[in-house]
Amino acid sequence: MILEAHEITKNFGGVRALNKCSLGIKKNKITALIGPNGSGKTTLFDVISRLIKPNSGFIKFKQERIDKFRPNKVAKMGISRTFQDPRLFKNLTIKDHFMMALSTNDESMFAKEKDVEWKIKEIMNLIGLTKPLHTLGSDLSYGQRKLLDLGVALAKPHDLLMLDEPVAGVNPKLRKQIKKIIQNLNKKGETVFLIEHDMNFVMDLVDHIFVLDAGEVIASGKPKQIQNNKKVLDAYLGE
Ligand SMILES: Nc1ncnc2c1ncn2[C@@H]1O[C@H](COP(=O)(O)OP(=O)(O)OP(=O)(O)O)[C@@H](O)[C@H]1O
Ligand SMILES: [Mg+2]
Repeated sequence: MILEAHEITKNFGGVRALNKCSLGIKKNKITALIGPNGSGKTTLFDVISRLIKPNSGFIKFKQERIDKFRPNKVAKMGISRTFQDPRLFKNLTIKDHFMMALSTNDESMFAKEKDVEWKIKEIMNLIGLTKPLHTLGSDLSYGQRKLLDLGVALAKPHDLLMLDEPVAGVNPKLRKQIKKIIQNLNKKGETVFLIEHDMNFVMDLVDHIFVLDAGEVIASGKPKQIQNNKKVLDAYLGE
């Protein structure tokens, strides 16, 4: 296991977003976290990346407990993630976003151009974003922002890629494109942990599924095992 969550509980006031949630992510596999709206998926990602602190439970990444770490330390350890709503800067260009992601120098926010030019090209090809590098974040469509957000996460050195609903709100053609990108990444050995609302999207994509409902893992297994699980169907139908 590259990542383990041990009995994570997180309360927001009176709302229990996660309730003793435990799961493990295997290296070089694609794992999905699915579940109805509000079941705690994004909260678990935020706990893993240390953006929020759990009330109890702990996370292990590469066999090391990360409970005391700041988000940037967790990122440096090798967890790269995207957000449900792409977090990009309106006034920065596509290139600026990559230069920031690729900066390895603590004194400068941006990488040196000559060091990273080839890397930016490689990632632009990989994500298939056909926009000039000087395009501003504010001039990208929603789908293009999703792609750039994915590209930025890929640009950062990492051992685990966590994607929060990579295809939510995206048209069918781009959904296929993003699915292909994820498959190709995995073929190259990437470990991917993704959140997805739509069960059908993950069926032929992932190796393993965890199903969250009301902050608890109610089922886990290969896609075929999950597909006809009564608890899972009830959770989705009850939405
Ligand atoms: N910052 C917060 N403050 C208060 N409540 C929150 C906060 N973040 C999440 N919640 C609550 O925690 C629960 C889980 O939310 P979360 O965003 O993790 O769900 P989700 O499974 O990602 O849902 P979706 O599929 O809609 O993205 C919800 O009831 C939500 O309202
Ligand atoms: Mg969410």
